[in-house]
Amino acid sequence: MFNPRKIGSLDVFNRFIRSATAEFAANSDGTVIDEYYELYANLALGEVGLIIQGHLYIMDEGKAHKKMAGIAHEYHLDGLKQIIQSVHKTQTGSKIAAQLNHGGLHSVSKKAPSVPEGKNAQVMTEEDIESVISSFGIAASRAKQIGYDAVQIHSAHEYLLSQFLSSRLNQRNDSWGGNLENRASFLLSVYREIRSKVGSNYPVLVKINSTDEPKQGFPVEDAAAVSKWLADEGLDLIEISGNQSIRTKFDHEAYFAKNAQYIKNNIGDMPLSVVGGNRSFEVIQQLRHEFADFISFSRPFIREPDLVHKFRNGKQKADCISCNKCFNPPLIITCLDKII
Ligand SMILES: Cc1cc2nc3c(=O)[nH]c(=O)nc-3n(C[C@H](O)[C@H](O)[C@H](O)COP(=O)(O)O)c2cc1C
Ligand code: SF4
Repeated sequence: MFNPRKIGSLDVFNRFIRSATAEFAANSDGTVIDEYYELYANLALGEVGLIIQGHLYIMDEGKAHKKMAGIAHEYHLDGLKQIIQSVHKTQTGSKIAAQLNHGGLHSVSKKAPSVPEGKNAQVMTEEDIESVISSFGIAASRAKQIGYDAVQIHSAHEYLLSQFLSSRLNQRNDSWGGNLENRASFLLSVYREIRSKVGSNYPVLVKINSTDEPKQGFPVEDAAAVSKWLADEGLDLIEISGNQSIRTKFDHEAYFAKNAQYIKNNIGDMPLSVVGGNRSFEVIQQLRHEFADFISFSRPFIREPDLVHKFRNGKQKADCISCNKCFNPPLIITCLDKII
C-alpha cells in the first residue's frame, strides 16, 4: 500500500486515493468558501496519495445539488486554485484531481437521455448533448490550466453519463441509445473531447458504476466492456463504484471488490481503483495483492483525514461506521457521528 505507482504521467507516492466527496459548502454561485482549504490541506498532511475533490459542475444546468461547487465559470477558478495550492504547499507530495460532473436527471435542468418512468425529465436534444460534451472539455482545460494534477470524469451514481450507460434510463432510439456501444458513445465522446483539450500526457480518470443493482440496466459485463474501450483509448485510471455507493449497512467490506476484480481481468494494464466499504487494513492489502492497483475511500477520510498515516503506524481498521450522518453538514463536510 505504501509503494509509489504512476497514473499515466503522474507519480503517486502510495496506493491511497480519496474518492470524490462533495463538501456541501459552496456559495450559491458555486464558488468555494475558505474552509475548503483546510479540509484539503488536512488530507494532504494525512498522507493521501491522490485526493479527488468533490464533484464540480461543468455548466450551470448540470448542478446536482445545493452547495455544490462549480468549474463552469472563470469566477470559480480563484477559489479552486487556492484549494490546489493548499494541497501542494504541504509539500507532502499529495496530488489533487478535479472531478467533473453533470447531474442530468438529478440536476437543476432535469435533462436526461430519455424520460424514466415516474420522473419528470427533459429529453436531451442533439444540441444539448453537443453542448455538454463541449462543456466537459472546457472544464477539463480550466482544471489543467489552474494546476490540478488530473481530472476525473464522473460517470457513476446515476448522474448524466451513467444515465446514458444504463439501458433502463436510456431508452433513446437514435445513435446515443440502444445497444451498449451507442449508450457508451456519450461517455467516450466526453473522454475524447477532454483528451483533445488536455493532451495525451495529462492524466484523465473515470469513475464508473460496476453495477446498478438492485435496479437492472448496467450489469458488470457492460461495465467491463466500457472500461476496456476506455483503456484502449488511453484512459489513465478507472475507479470502480456502483449505484448504491453509500451503503449504510453492509455485511462484508469492500462491497464492489468482486465486480472490480472482474473488470480488472478485462482491461489489460490500465490501473484500477475500487471504492465502497473499504475499512480494514487487512482487507485492503488483500485487494491490492489480488488485483487492485489503488484503494479508494470516501467516508473513512471524512472521519479520519489522517487515516493513511494511522494505517502506516499500525492501525487496523477505520473508525467510520458508515452511518451517513455526514450528508448536509452545518458548515462543511464533517463526521457528525463524532460530534454528536
Ligand atoms: C458525503 C458524501 C459525498 C459524496 N460525494 C461524491 C462526489 O462528489 N462524487 C462521487 O463520485 N462520489 C461521491 N460520494 C461517494 C463516495 O465517493 C464513495 O463512492 C462512497 O461513499 C463509498 O465509499 P466509502 O465506503 O469509502 O464511503 C460521496 C459520498 C459521501 C458520503
Ligand atoms: S458521519 Fe458516519 S458515515 Fe459519515 S464519516 Fe462519520 S461515521 Fe462515517
